Amino acid sequence: MTPSINPRVQQIELSGIRKIANLLIDYPDAINLTVGQPDFPTPDRVKQAAHQAISNNQTAYSSNAGLLELRQEVSTFFADKYNFTYDPETEILVTTGASEAMDVAFRTILEAGDEVIIPVPSYTGYEPLITLTGAKPVYLDTTQTDFIPDPQQIEQLITPNTKAIVFNYPSNPTGVTIPRLTMDALVATLVKHDIFIISDEIYSENTFEGEHRSFAQYPELKDKLFLIHGLSKSHSMTGWRIGFLLAAPQWTKHAAKIHAYNTICASVPSQHAAICALNECRQTPAAMNREYIRRCDYMYTRLTNMGLPTVKPTGAFYMFPSIKIANMTADQFAHTLLDEARVAVVPGTAFTSYGEGHIRISYAYAFDQLEIAMDRMEKWLGDRTSGTRY
Ligand SMILES: Cc1ncc(COP(=O)(O)O)c(C=O)c1O
Repeated sequence: MTPSINPRVQQIELSGIRKIANLLIDYPDAINLTVGQPDFPTPDRVKQAAHQAISNNQTAYSSNAGLLELRQEVSTFFADKYNFTYDPETEILVTTGASEAMDVAFRTILEAGDEVIIPVPSYTGYEPLITLTGAKPVYLDTTQTDFIPDPQQIEQLITPNTKAIVFNYPSNPTGVTIPRLTMDALVATLVKHDIFIISDEIYSENTFEGEHRSFAQYPELKDKLFLIHGLSKSHSMTGWRIGFLLAAPQWTKHAAKIHAYNTICASVPSQHAAICALNECRQTPAAMNREYIRRCDYMYTRLTNMGLPTVKPTGAFYMFPSIKIANMTADQFAHTLLDEARVAVVPGTAFTSYGEGHIRISYAYAFDQLEIAMDRMEKWLGDRTSGTRY
């Protein structure tokens, strides 16, 4: 007899982003626009803080929740910038990236049979974690509303089994942010229902127009909100693995148990680096944003001119153009583009089936690479749509 593994694990798949990125080994001359990884180095000050921590032998476990000094920095950062307060002693957990914060949040909240509303197309990380708990994702289609979730549609999807709703704005994969009035309308809807809100705001610091508006700025949601954050994107620290989970104390008390049994604590040298990032490097995201905005404007113009219309991003570093003109599925488009023109993009279907008809382009790549990629893509698309065979 062969033992069998958890069927829910069999049900989940490797991310569609990784699938296409893995193909790149066979195309060393391809320009890769698939990965959501800032192309800037981690700030020098942050690196020095980690060196210092290691030299000082600050390499043992921290408390499960994370170094108190870091939790205090997290609290101060949000209070200063967004004017909301989470208690460092009882309402903040330092996690191994936003990814762990998400997993902990889902496992704290969900049980088999629960429903979780996800605005789609959505980041690839949510659905597998939800499925693992036995809960079921319920899709909120945003393709007809410029990728902005509509409060009335949410209302229609809520059933007695709805346990939570996930938000991720600025959005991966679309780059959209939620306008202030829509935020207010969403909150007015959410406050009426007994459901949790899991808001992954990891791209908050990559907001290009106005200020990011957080669900945590609405005190009426405090008892329902799990706020997910981290430094991967804001400070180009993807490999340091530092994330934050913020919630009311009655929830963090339980989430802390899952986190403690899972990882004990986040990497301690990385926690020291994170203190420095939040305290001394608050201008880092703005400097990166200036370059992202330049690239975004360029990409938007090029894509529009080649017949791939896109909702113009106002945050993150992704674009999600329509590929209708090419008359191919998203998967065919991505594979053929890679094979024939040596440009790698992610098929929109990696972000649920609602991403069909789109591709995701990351512009966290050097400007000259983007220029070459756009030239190759334009020529390829022109030849294709004019009937030239490769
Ligand atoms: C929306 C979103 N949330 C979370 C993550 C993962 O963040 P971390 O590196 O902090 O685990 C990503 C990474 O691409 C992301 O795009």
